[in-house]
Amino acid sequence: MALLEIEDLSVQRPAGPGNTAPVALLEDVSLTLPAGGSLGLVGESGCGKSLTALAVMGLLPAGLRADGRVRLDGLDLLTTAERTLCRLRGRRLAMVFQEPMTALNPVKTIGAQVAEGPRRHLGLSRRAARDHARAVLHRVGLDPSRVSPDQYPHELSGGQRQRVGIAIAVACGPALLIADEPTTALDVATQARILDLITDLVADADMALLMIAHDLAVVAETAERMAVMYAGRVVETGPTARVLAWPRHPYTRGLMGALPRGAGRPGDPLAAIPGVVPPPGARPPGCAFADRCPRADGLCATRPPLTADTDGHGVACHHPHDTPAERQP
Ligand SMILES: Nc1ncnc2c1ncn2[C@@H]1O[C@H](COP(=O)(O)OP(=O)(O)OP(=O)(O)O)[C@@H](O)[C@H]1O
Ligand SMILES: [Mg+2]
Repeated sequence: MALLEIEDLSVQRPAGPGNTAPVALLEDVSLTLPAGGSLGLVGESGCGKSLTALAVMGLLPAGLRADGRVRLDGLDLLTTAERTLCRLRGRRLAMVFQEPMTALNPVKTIGAQVAEGPRRHLGLSRRAARDHARAVLHRVGLDPSRVSPDQYPHELSGGQRQRVGIAIAVACGPALLIADEPTTALDVATQARILDLITDLVADADMALLMIAHDLAVVAETAERMAVMYAGRVVETGPTARVLAWPRHPYTRGLMGALPRGAGRPGDPLAAIPGVVPPPGARPPGCAFADRCPRADGLCATRPPLTADTDGHGVACHHPHDTPAERQP
């Protein structure tokens, strides 16, 4: 049994005042992550990466409806009581967010914030939790002699704040760490150090990692397997090295082609792919990438199923590339 099994996860915004029909945000997302394994999730802004992560955490925005199964250690989190989810969050699974400042409490010291989980989940005394927090902060690179656990988030740099976010997430030794664009808000040098830290922590504690990024290079560096999302669906998945050497979906090729420019902000259209991701309410019934795809033809008016080869390399495309890419990132 895999640690995390996402099976046919769909997330909908039900019909309401602003929309007469229900709008599908995620459709039939299936992903698996073994204990200690790593999976990268990539795709342009709005493809559904964060919603997938939030569905796993049981933190979907109010009003959205999730169907399918999200099993952690065999337990379906979508049908689990909130009380049980509260016990699991922080303890068995934890998340690092994109913008550390919004994830941290501005009026509590960083030491107190890191100590909260261990007190609640590990039953540590106030004093033991404080010592534990100091040790975890040290482990994530915040040496107590230079950055005191008694400091507040606003006294820290962006990179230091993200280290605190990571310390909070790993403080109780979760089996699954979800990192949602953990380096997007940071400068390039800090990005590299934070990625190294996450990779180290995950390897040391044998945690499983779900790494979300819009940047393929981040996934190449941190994840053994990857999944490419487009318009709420998984369009390609497989071992990272294999997908990058032989991207089969034209969208994955487009993402790779967009890499060298690298200057884009999340949300900008990619240089190598004309057009933009269709918004959830305006997705065509067939392949959602068809109107941007150089290979599209009449067949693409029907939705291509995701089919995998014997190496576990899957692609949802009627006209996948059948030769490796000439250039690798
Ligand atoms: N609460 C909500 N109500 C309605 N639609 C939503 C809600 N939250 C997200 N969406 C829509 O769902 C789609 C997927 O959003 P999501 O945040 O998962 O994208 P993402 O891949 O994480 O993008 P980014 O790279 O910008 O973080 C988007 O079109 C978004 O507008
Ligand atoms: Mg996101």
